[in-house]
Amino acid sequence: MITLLNGDCLDISHEIPDETVDLILTDPPYNISERGAKPEWIDPTTGENKNTVHSQKFDESFEHNWDSVSHEDFVKLLSQWSNLWYSKLRPGGSFAVFISDVYISYLWSAAESVGLEPKRIFTWKKPAAVPFNRRVNPVSGCEYILWGIKPIKGNYRRTFNADASVGTIVERYSAADKVSSIVYKYIAQGLDLKSAFDMAEAESLEVLSSRKVNVLGQVECVIPNTIVYSGGSTRDRIHPTQKPQEILEYFIALLTNEGDLVLDTFAGSGSTGRASLDRSRRAILVERDPVMFSKMSEKFKFE
Ligand SMILES: C[S@@+](CC[C@H](N)C(=O)[O-])C[C@H]1O[C@@H](n2cnc3c(N)ncnc32)[C@H](O)[C@@H]1O
Repeated sequence: MITLLNGDCLDISHEIPDETVDLILTDPPYNISERGAKPEWIDPTTGENKNTVHSQKFDESFEHNWDSVSHEDFVKLLSQWSNLWYSKLRPGGSFAVFISDVYISYLWSAAESVGLEPKRIFTWKKPAAVPFNRRVNPVSGCEYILWGIKPIKGNYRRTFNADASVGTIVERYSAADKVSSIVYKYIAQGLDLKSAFDMAEAESLEVLSSRKVNVLGQVECVIPNTIVYSGGSTRDRIHPTQKPQEILEYFIALLTNEGDLVLDTFAGSGSTGRASLDRSRRAILVERDPVMFSKMSEKFKFE
């Protein structure tokens, strides 16, 4: 089941019942578009920075610039959004919020000050990062997700599905991390790429087959707070910062159970909704921009 709401998440929050949500999975504006502007990126006539997310493909879909408010205003918004998430989460419910490195500490403090319990930063490492601004900055090869819970109360429990099942992405990422650490070791020893990969393949098969198996016959693996993932399909892309469905599914599989309710207060293309439905969860999606909202609604018209 999916519910789509068009409006500013702060203004229409009354439409979402309090303490009903099992997971807030959301990707607010990063508010970093205007940072690091070089003189040649500034349009001499309009003064506009031409090197932001808004100068990229799909931006004509939006009615207004959604990623540029002042630092002070953005920090206030982080508090207001944290408050909203607190009121909608059930006790023991989880939140996983995408955030840029610039604002991790601000979001952590904002979440804590409204009573949420931030627990860890997940780092999503993107080996094929876009070499944007590479002559003035180290290329940003990571994104960050702040994960935490609303404190447990009464009979409520938190969900953390640490038993990864064979074949799920949770296991795949754990296996990929293992393999990449082994490849790295052989490359550091000076082996050429082909030999390093051959050695890593043999060793990783051995390592994975020696892992503990649980009562259901599934391989037990540790859930790391790093995810290595490149790409994702661009076929259905309608949003400039659309998140890969598999990353969203990773968090949904880890932090909710079938039938649970997922809320995305900054839905964009609706990718969190798609991932939730495909994982047999319910979802509420909020998107402020009317043009993006209608594109997103189109995608769910048969649900
Ligand atoms: C970073 S994008 C999210 C992209 C999304 N994760 C996806 O995969 O398509 C943020 C979205 O939040 C919307 N937005 C910004 N401020 C909002 C607000 N106050 N309430 C609701 N939506 C908002 C923007 O229009 C934009 O589509």
